[in-house]
Order: sequence, then structure tokens, then C-alpha cells
Amino acid sequence: MKKSSLFLIILAMAMLLPSSICASDDQTSFVLKSPDGQLEMQFTVADGVPTYSLSRNGQAVILPSKLGFELRGGTKLDRDFRLTAFKTDDFDETWQPVWGEEASIRNHYKELLVKLKQPQTEKEKKAVAMDIRFRLYDDGLGFRYEFPLENALVYFQIKEELTQFAMTGDHTAWWIPGDYSTQEFNPTQSRLSEIRHLSDDVHKRGGWPWKGFSQTGVQTALQMKTDDGIYINIHEAAVLDYPTTNLDLDDKNFVFTTHLTPDAEGVKGRLQAPCKTPWRSIMVCKSATDVLASRLVLNLNEPCAIDDTSWIHPVKYMGVWWEMISGVSQWSYTNDYPSVQLGVTDYAKSKPHGNHGANNANVRRYIDFASENGFDGLLIEGWNEGWEDWYGKQKDFVFDFLTPYPDFDLPALNKYAHEKGIRLIMHHETSSSTVNYERWMEKAYNLMNEYGYNAVKSGYVGKIIPYGEYHYSQPLINHYHYAITEAARHKIMVNAHEAVRPTGLCRTWPNMIGNESAMGTEFRDAIKPGHTTIFPFTRLQGGPMDYTPGIFEMDLRKTSGWNNQMNHTICNQLGLYVTFYSPLQMAADLPQSYEKFMDAFQFIKDVAVDWDKTIYIDAEPGDYIITARHPKLSTLNKAAEGVSALKDGKKNAINSVTRFVYALPDDATAADLVGATPRDVWYVGGITDEQSRKVNLKLDFLKPGTKYEAIIYADAPDADYQTNPQAYTITRKTVNHKTVLKLKMARAGGFAISLREKK
Ligand code: NOJ
Ligand code: CA
Repeated sequence: MKKSSLFLIILAMAMLLPSSICASDDQTSFVLKSPDGQLEMQFTVADGVPTYSLSRNGQAVILPSKLGFELRGGTKLDRDFRLTAFKTDDFDETWQPVWGEEASIRNHYKELLVKLKQPQTEKEKKAVAMDIRFRLYDDGLGFRYEFPLENALVYFQIKEELTQFAMTGDHTAWWIPGDYSTQEFNPTQSRLSEIRHLSDDVHKRGGWPWKGFSQTGVQTALQMKTDDGIYINIHEAAVLDYPTTNLDLDDKNFVFTTHLTPDAEGVKGRLQAPCKTPWRSIMVCKSATDVLASRLVLNLNEPCAIDDTSWIHPVKYMGVWWEMISGVSQWSYTNDYPSVQLGVTDYAKSKPHGNHGANNANVRRYIDFASENGFDGLLIEGWNEGWEDWYGKQKDFVFDFLTPYPDFDLPALNKYAHEKGIRLIMHHETSSSTVNYERWMEKAYNLMNEYGYNAVKSGYVGKIIPYGEYHYSQPLINHYHYAITEAARHKIMVNAHEAVRPTGLCRTWPNMIGNESAMGTEFRDAIKPGHTTIFPFTRLQGGPMDYTPGIFEMDLRKTSGWNNQMNHTICNQLGLYVTFYSPLQMAADLPQSYEKFMDAFQFIKDVAVDWDKTIYIDAEPGDYIITARHPKLSTLNKAAEGVSALKDGKKNAINSVTRFVYALPDDATAADLVGATPRDVWYVGGITDEQSRKVNLKLDFLKPGTKYEAIIYADAPDADYQTNPQAYTITRKTVNHKTVLKLKMARAGGFAISLREKK
């Protein structure tokens, strides 16, 4: 299309559209307004260079920022463009997540698609074509690049993506250092200008196969706050067949530029038209609680790709896990074999070292405890051959995911668990040998199907095989996705540890029920107070995290003898079950640690893990979070479906949450549920950083005219994470929607409240 005719079309369209368009000979600009009119995005092509900017109520949030790529071979996709066409759209839908923080989510945006072309070359006879799709929501902007097939570029390789995010000042940021392979770092709060000198120290304290690329590199999701109190969050959505990005900061001008994770050959994405990149997202909110309530990243993902989701459900679980993480027992079976050859090494002939956690008697002990206390699942790690040399060797054939150690009777333990209303959760540590995992995956998932495991925790510890790849490079993104889609084919839910940080893909693949991809409880005393007040703003924006809360015995000298003291109170851990959303929630401590505090453990039993309504009462990243949630009734006892205890009417098949909501006794069977009516139930949780805080909690979200019994689990007046972390009080009170509770959170403490309608 000739420039003059496009100019006329643009002018004609400008008269019809709510958003405005301006064109002159060397510049074309579009202004797109969010549905509520508060956010405004301007896209401009000036002298061939495409840029965008973003403002809120007339105040700049993102200054004019460049868009585009540099390709391998020299092609530059950030210049020489002319606009050949555009399209706008107005979209409004409400969708129901399979599990989540609320029963339905509104997805309402204004869209602008711009079609850009570079001049046609004599040789190619075709022009390079690149489209950019913008979606502007009330709570932020998403945009992505699309490459149509009608293009001089069909197969091409990215040298770097050049998307910029130009900040308006030296904002406060909550960040972890840029990396190609891990995000197991403590988050740091600082000004943007301080990242450079702080990053060295953070790296030193950080995770394992660290590969920093810049002193000012940070990871998404990056939470910022301006001096005017606007919260800006930069993330990515729907990262598929493309590397994950870091953000590299020019700290003189406060401009971030995307820095993609390279593959083993240094390529930052191999693309084949027609194709589209992941979304870049910029959330803009006026309060911290609005950030927590934003569903921008989920909305930018595609709808659910699984037709029948009836097998996907929230799970509350325990694990033969913390005892290995905290040094009580081991994953391995014997000390006889420094070099294991799977299929050759005969474990039956070896001398057990006697400290193998996943042995039949110990697993039965956990099944009994989990069942008596109404849990849904039990994870068992170290059940399979190969743990003697699994770590740090870059060993290709490290596990077969099929062969149990001699003291782990897989069929018998599953049968025992199912009779007690518990599903065992499979564990697949890949040791980052993804080639090996793909070889065994079909057989491994079939084994799970055969014995009724419906969830797997996978893990990617150490350096990746294929050699030279990184955890966040394009081939690995494709591996994780393959594992998810294959699992869906087998009706298996997945909780991947050390895999890439999630980008909202759980909307499309809700069998992705959990992920770690951040520094979780396994880091013990390295977790600082305040750590968990940051993640809901950053890591959790892309999807839930298997943080593994619930550690009641903070002093590991009392369990394993390790000189480790964790930095929280018991009530802080209880508060996490409400403030830290996950549909897969663990009670991570040892049964014997809970047995000492069964009255406090009651809250972990009672609290739900799936919600139809969430209210973010008050929050500030790095300081505190207070959240109230209302359970979703339809998924309450779903996890137990299919286990024999439910069919046989045995006790403990009704999980503890269902018992709480229906006010049933501990030994209730499926028959007791028939005809029972649920009570209205709410849960409130609070957590704080190293400062103690007073809270006046208004219960105005309760149903008016209804009395509730509140059970308040609070830090005792003299509780303190360093000197007295296990001191708490439990108070029962009759309350209503006018009640205001006065609470105090100790340093690194918190509170938890269950509220049940009184009859
Ligand atoms: C690291 C995981 O995060 C942890 O949960 C697991 O126990 C170990 N890898 C062993 O697989
Ligand atoms: Ca980990």
C-alpha cells in the first residue's frame, strides 16, 4: 500500500475509533486507551523506528521505548519500517479457571495490531514483515511480535530481542539477579541505581549453576514502585518455543532491554514463520493489593487446551521429603556404589546404609499420619534406584524412573495408601538430563497410570544435558512443555522444580499444578524474614509455587543435628497457607514435629487450597501481606475421588477441609457427606517481615447477619523468630461482619484465622 493511501485510511479510521491515530509524512502514531480510559499506550513509527510508551491518567509510566530484534546474519528489525496496515479490537470475556484464586476471571482489553514492513529488496522480491499486537487492559499492557508467512523472513535466528522498557526514574525494585539457569536467589529490595553494586553479593549467596551476564541484569517478574506510589511489574506471558528473557538495565538512563537466554550455540531463538513471540507484560497498579489481584499474565495466555479437566484438582499433601532436605535421612540406599550403572548394579546384593528415607515402614508411617489428618497426597522422594551418584556428575543415564529400591514396595504401598484415602505423588528427579527423561517418559507415565499415581513432582537439579544448554533456553522451554503435554495425555498433574519460572501457561495447561522455580523452604536458614512477602508480587505472577511451607521445628539441631535455625515463627507458617497461593500445598515438616503442636496443626488441616473468592486486605512487598479467602466448594473433596477408601466407605476418605466446611467428625466417610450442608467458611492469613506489626482486622467481608466461630492462631505476645519462634495462642470467638480483631504479628511472624458459620 502506498504511504499516501494508508494516510487517508488512517484519517478515515480515526474518526470512527475511540482511540486516536495521527499520521504525517514521516511519523504515524496510534493512541490506545484501556477500557476504563486510565491507561494510554502510544505506538509510533517515526523515521522507520517503531516505539511505544505508556501513561496512567496522563502521567508517564514507560517513556518512549524501542521495539524489535537483531537477527543473526545482520538483519536489524528495529528500523526502516513503514506501517502497511492496522486493526483494532475490543474484547471482553469472563472465563473460569480449573483452579485458582477466584471462580471467574474477566479478560477485558482493547487491542491494536500493527503490520510493519521493511523495503522489498531486489534479490528477495519480498519484504521483511513484522506485526506487533498490543493489548491494553485496565491493569496493564501486553504486546508481542508476530511474523506472518508472507515474509522475506521464514527461517531465522535471533541474535537479541531489543524490546525496551524505559522507566521514568530511579524506582524501588524487588529483584533477583539475571541468570540463564536458576532463580534460587533471595530477592533484594533496592533502587534501580543500586542493583549494580549489590548484584555481586547477591550472586555469591545465590544458586548453583549460576550464569550471570551483566551486573545490572535482573529476572522477570520484576516488581517496581515509583516515588509517586505507582506499582509497575514487568513480566512475560505464554513463553513457548522461545527462550525466557532477562532484563538488562542501563542504570544511567533507567532503561531495561530484553536479554534472551542463549542456547548451546549462542542462538537466542530459532524461529519459523508463521510464528509469534511470548507476550511482554507491564502491569500498572495504584496499590500493592491491586498487583496481587491482577490476572494480566493469565489473561494473556490461551484458554484451556484440555477438554476433560475432571481429573485435575487441588491437592494438600505431605512428603517423605523434609527429612532428606534437613539431614534426618537420605535419598540413597547404600554407600557401596560410588558409580551406579542402572540395570547392571545389583542393589539386592548391596549393604544398605540404614538411613534410606523411602523405606516401606517409614512410608507407611507417613501414610498413616497423612490419612488420619485428612490429607490428599503423599510425596515420596528417593524411591528409585540411582541416588548414589545422581548429583553434579552430568551423568546421562542417571535414573530410569521405573525401578524401586529393594525396600520400597511400590504396588503394596500404593494399595495401602489408596485404602486410607491417600494418593502417592510420584517423584522424577531428572538431574537435568532431559534427554534421558524424554527417553523414559512414556514408560514412567505408564507406570504411574498403572498404579494410580495422578501427580508427579519433577526436578531439574544441576547442569543441563544436552551439554551447554541452559534451564531457560529455547530447547529446554520445549522440553518442559513436552513433559506437560505428555502428562496431560496420561491425565497426570505436574509440579516441576528448577524448571523455568512460569508465565501463566497454567491457564492453557491446568495440569501444571505447581512449580518451584524460586528459592523455596528447602534453603532453610538462607530464607530471610520478608522473603515470602515478595514472591506473590514477582514469582507468583506467572503461576503458583510449591513453596513447601509449614515448618514448625525451626531448630534443626533438634531433628537432624544440623546447625540450622530457620527465620520464622509457627504462626508465620500458618499465615502462608492463605497469603501464598498454591492449589498444591504441602505441610512440609515431619509428622513428629507436628505431633508436638497438634492444636496449631489443626489450621493446616482445616485450610482449603482452592478458592472462589479472594480479598487482598493489605500488603506491601517486602513488608507484609494480609489476605482473606473463601473456598470453592465444588473441588473440596475431589482429590480423594478414585481411591478405594471412598468407594469402601472407610474413614479418612473425606479430606480434612471438607470435614471442616461440612462440620463433619474426623472419622467421617463418604456416606456422611450425603445430605450434609456446607457452612459458610473463610480463612484469613497474615505474614510480616523482620518487623513486628499490629493489625486491626475488619471482618466486613463476612455475610451480614450471620454469626461465625473464629479460631485465631496468633503469635504469643513474647513470640519472636529468633528467640521464641514456637510461641502462639489459639483463641475462639464468636464474630460477625462488624467485628474488628486486634492482632499482633511478631518479628517474621504472622497469624491465621479460620471462620465458620455458626448453626
Ligand atoms: C531440588 C528440589 O527442589 C527438592 O525439592 C528435591 O528434594 C531435590 N531437588 C531432589 O530432587
Ligand atoms: Ca530446588
